[in-house]
Parts: sequence; C-alpha cells; structure tokens
Amino acid sequence: MVPEHAQTFLYGARKVLLLLHFVGAVVLAGSSVHLALRMPGLLRGRSNPRLERIYGRVVAVAYSLTYLLGALLYPTYRVHVRWAFLDRVHPMVSNLFDVKENLATIALPVALALGALGGRLSDDADRRLRPVFASMSAFVAAVVVFDVLSGVYIASVRAV
Ligand code: HEM
Repeated sequence: MVPEHAQTFLYGARKVLLLLHFVGAVVLAGSSVHLALRMPGLLRGRSNPRLERIYGRVVAVAYSLTYLLGALLYPTYRVHVRWAFLDRVHPMVSNLFDVKENLATIALPVALALGALGGRLSDDADRRLRPVFASMSAFVAAVVVFDVLSGVYIASVRAV
C-alpha cells in the first residue's frame, strides 16, 4: 500500500476508474465496429440513416467518456505503474502505452465528427462525402480495436 503522502490524484478510486474505463472501451468497440460495418452499404447507396445516427452518437459519447476516464487514471499510471515499474523493467510496454494514448488523441476529433455527421449523408447531394465519412469511421474503429487490445495487454503486465 502506498503511504498517503506519496499517493497521486484519485489514487483511491483507481480500480473503479479502471473498471469504468474498460466498460466505456467495450461500448466504444461495439458501436465503432458496428458503424464501420455499415459503411459498405452506405457507399453502395443503401444508407440506413437511423442506425448511422445512433451508432455515430454512441461512438462520440462513449469516446469522450472513455477518454476522460483514461485522463483521470493517468496521474496514477504515470507514477505508480510507469515510473515505478514499466520504464525500468518493461520499457517497450511503456512505449506501447504512448502509441495507444497518441492514437486515442488523434482520433478524438474524428470520433466527435462521426457523432455530428452520422445519419446525415443519405441525400444524393451528399454522395461525394460518403467515402470521407466511411474512411473516418474505419479509422476510428481501427484505433479503438488497437487501443482495447493494447490497453488490456498493458494492464495485464501491471495495472494501476
Ligand atoms: C480510444 C480510447 C481508449 C480505449 C479504447 C482504451 C482502452 C483501454 C483498455 C481496454 C484498458 C485496459 C482496461 C482493463 O484491462 O481493465 C485501458 C487501460 C488504460 N488506459 Fe485506456 N483507452 C483509451 C484511451 C485512453 C487515454 C486517452 C488514456 C490517458 C489519457 C488512457 C489511459 C489508460 C490507463 C492509465 C490505463 C491503465 C493501464 C494500467 O493499469 O497499466 N486510455 N485502456
């Protein structure tokens, strides 16, 4: 047990935060992959605006919450996992965390845009924007799948 004076921000809540971060990641994985799987239909002109709107909004909300929970866990991870253990014993796992976190930050505005645009591209006039939306959706789903797998792996080496 870490003495009180050496504890980081929200240290006592770290396990609950990790669990909630994981729940957010599961919802995010489900919604982002389902949205990406709708894209071949959208590109062939068989849009389902209702589903694309729901999945897009769930992605935007789940991404924001998962990101926020990750940021709240970060001070504890930085000191008690990374500094105290990973950097010395498993530096490549530290590197993997950096890749996970950077990709999550790059994809954040794209995930928010999926929430704003989902279900709004069914008009014929918007046809030329559909490949852009499909690429954004595939990118976010790929980042989320990578982040879920790398996050579980990192936590299996040493959890907060
Ligand atoms: C797409 C966004 C993200 C996804 C899908 C994701 C997913 C995950 C998953 C599945 C875990 C393992 C949870 C467990 O096994 O209980 C994890 C751990 C973690 N994530 Fe994320 N994450 C994301 C973004 C972030 C961000 C932006 C940060 C920091 C700012 C962050 C910080 C952490 C921390 C500190 C851990 C715990 C690592 C440990 O205990 O060793 N995550 N993440």
